[in-house]
Amino acid sequence: MILDHRSSINTDLALLLSCVFCIIQAHPSPASDFRVPPYLQNPTSDGMTLIWFSNSDTPGQLEVRGPGAYQAGKPFESAPYHAVELSYPSWESNRFFGRQNVALSYARSPQPPVFIPPLHRIAPLVNQVNEHHLFTQYAPAPPYRHRVRIENLLPSATYQYAIRQSTSLFSSNFTTAPTAKEPIRFIVYADSETEPESTGKHGKWPDKEGKIRPYLLDQTDGYKNNLAVIQSRKPHFIAIPGDLVESGGEQRDWDEFWRHNTSLDGQGSIASKVPFLATPGNHEYYESPIGDRYNQPGSQRAINRYQTYFEFPTNNSPNAKQHGLYHRTDFGPVTMIALDVANDGPHKTDRDTNFFLLGEDDEQGGNAPAFKPGSTQYIWLEKQLADAQQRSAFTFVYFHHVPYSVGPHGWAAGESIWIDWWKFVSDFLSIDPPELLDTQSGVPVRILTPLFMRYGVDAVFSGHDEMFERSELHGNERTIDGLESPHVIHFYDVGIGGDGLRGPQTGLHNPHQAFLAHTHAPEVWQDSVLIDGGKHYGHLEVDILPARDGRWQAVMKPVYVFPVFDSQHNYLRSERRLYDDIVALTERKTAQESTLFGFEPTELRFDNLSTALLRYHITEEAAVQTTVYGDDGEAIRLLETATKKSGLYSVEWDGRNDRRQQVEEGTYTVQLVANGMRDSVNVYIMR
Ligand SMILES: [Fe+2]
Repeated sequence: MILDHRSSINTDLALLLSCVFCIIQAHPSPASDFRVPPYLQNPTSDGMTLIWFSNSDTPGQLEVRGPGAYQAGKPFESAPYHAVELSYPSWESNRFFGRQNVALSYARSPQPPVFIPPLHRIAPLVNQVNEHHLFTQYAPAPPYRHRVRIENLLPSATYQYAIRQSTSLFSSNFTTAPTAKEPIRFIVYADSETEPESTGKHGKWPDKEGKIRPYLLDQTDGYKNNLAVIQSRKPHFIAIPGDLVESGGEQRDWDEFWRHNTSLDGQGSIASKVPFLATPGNHEYYESPIGDRYNQPGSQRAINRYQTYFEFPTNNSPNAKQHGLYHRTDFGPVTMIALDVANDGPHKTDRDTNFFLLGEDDEQGGNAPAFKPGSTQYIWLEKQLADAQQRSAFTFVYFHHVPYSVGPHGWAAGESIWIDWWKFVSDFLSIDPPELLDTQSGVPVRILTPLFMRYGVDAVFSGHDEMFERSELHGNERTIDGLESPHVIHFYDVGIGGDGLRGPQTGLHNPHQAFLAHTHAPEVWQDSVLIDGGKHYGHLEVDILPARDGRWQAVMKPVYVFPVFDSQHNYLRSERRLYDDIVALTERKTAQESTLFGFEPTELRFDNLSTALLRYHITEEAAVQTTVYGDDGEAIRLLETATKKSGLYSVEWDGRNDRRQQVEEGTYTVQLVANGMRDSVNVYIMR
C-alpha cells in the first residue's frame, strides 16, 4: 500500500559509477577543488542545469547516465567562467581574513584578478570553510563558475551524474519534472538569512505576553535541522521567496548558504538532488552594513551575486539585468510564478516596499523591477497567469513581501504604532522620523491581489515578517469559459526558515488572518520543559495528489521542526510536527461539486513510510473527530477534534501515539466521525 515512486534508481549504474570513483579516489588527492559543490537549477521535464564553482580554472568533466539517450552515459565538459561578481569586498577581507587585503575591488570587468593566492594557500582555507570556521588567512580569489545544461531527458526519470573537477570527484542523482498530472511534492520557506555570525546567535522568541526570550537553539542549528527534515521528505523541488542570506553583498553570507545546502558528499547534499527556485528579498538587494546598504552601486553588486548563483527561465525583460529576478516554472500539475517585489514607486510613498532602495522607476535607480499595473513585470505576470489558468491544475505565486500580516511589515508603508509619537517628536526636533516606521512594508503588494483573484491563483507564498501566518482572501475568479466563480486565495508568510520567529505587533489587526502560529499553537510546558506547540523554524510542505472524482488536490501542510529536550534541558533531537492548519484545495470547481462523505482512497504515500496523509469530505457543518485505533480496538491517538464547514479536509498521522511515541509496524484504523456519520480507513505503518 505504501509506495516509493521515486526509488527507480538503476542500481547497476550506481555500482558502476561507484567503482569508477573507487579507482580514481585510490590516488592521493589534495583538498577539494570545489568551492561550491554541484547543485541543480532550472528543472524542466526534459532538462536540468548543473552549476558548481571551483578554485581552479580547469574545465570540469560531467557524465550523465539514465534512461533514453543517456543509457550508455554521456560526457560533458564545462567552460569555466571567472566569477568576479563573487569577490570578497576589501572590508570583509580585512576584517575576517586578516593579514593582508587580497580581495579584489568590486570588479565587474572581465579582467583577471590582480592577485590569486597560490593553490597551497587556498587549500587549507577550503577545509576551514567546511569545518564552519571563519577564515584566518588570505581571502580566496573569486571562484570559477561551471554551468552545464543537460537536455533531451525523459520526464519523471531519474539520472545519475558524476563530476570530476581537477582531482576532486562528486556524484549524485536528480529526477526530471513530469510533463503531465503526476503527484508531486514541494517545499516552501523563506528568510534563512544565512551568515557565519548565526552560529551562537539565538533569535528573539516573544512569549504570549510579548516578553522577549532567546529561542531554544541558535540560528545555525535551527536552519540545519529544518533542512534535514526537508531532505527527509524527498520533495521534487524547493521554492524560497527571498532573504536567503543576511547581506546579499557579503560573500561570507553566501558561503554560509552553500555550506548549508551543498556538500562534497553527494548523498548528503540536498541541492545536488533537489532543484530549488528562488526570488530575491530585500536582503539580496542589501550590500552590507559596512558597504553601500541599499544605495547604488552597492545594491547592484549585491544582486549581481544572487544572479551569478542562480539560473531561471528567461522573463524576456528588455533590461538584461532583470533576467532571473522574476520567472515562471511549470512542474507537472502546477505553475510556479516568482515575482520581485523588492521595490516600487513613487519613492517613499505608500506604494513603495523599500524606502531606501531605488529601482527602475526612480531617477538614479538600479534595476529592481516595478510591479505596479502597467509595469513590464505586471504585464508579464498577467500573461503568465492567463496561460497557467488554462494549463495547470494549480497556480502558485511566490515573492518576498507578505501583503497581509500582523508582523512589523504588516503596517502600511511609512506607518507604525509609533507614527503619532514620531510625528510629534520629529516636528518638535526637526529630524527625519522614518527609522522606526515601516519602511519596508508588504502592504503595497496588495495591488496585485485583484489580478491574482481574476486568474484564480490558489496560494501566494511569502516571507519577510518571519511568522507562520495564513490569510484568506475571498472573491471571484473569472474562469476560462468567461464565468465568475467564487474563489479563495491563501496568502502565507513562511519566513521561518532559519532566522526570526516573531510575534504579532501590538495594535495591528489582520482581518483576513486564518492562522498564526503565535496564537493558534500555544506552547505546552511540562516541568519547565516545552513539550509541544509554539513558534519554531519550519516550512510549508505541499502535496499535489489525484482525487477520486478525476480532479486534483493540493494539500498544504504547515510543518514545524520541534526541538526535544530532556528534563535536564539537554537537547536530544528535532522532530517534524504539523500545526493544526492543513489546507486541502480542490482543482478549480465544476458544477458537480462533491456531495460525498468520508475518506478518499489512500492511493499514494510518496516515500514516507511512517506518516499517512488522509483526506476526507464532509457534507455539512459538523463537529469532526478523527481517531487512530490499534488492532485491539484501543484508541491510541486523537488526531483532531474541531467544528468544520462542508468541504475537503486533510489530516496527517505521523505514526505516533498520544504520548508522542512511535507505534510499532502494523495495521491501524483511522476513524472519522461527523454528525453521527462514520467512515474509517486502514493505514499500514512501516518501520
Ligand atoms: Fe525581508
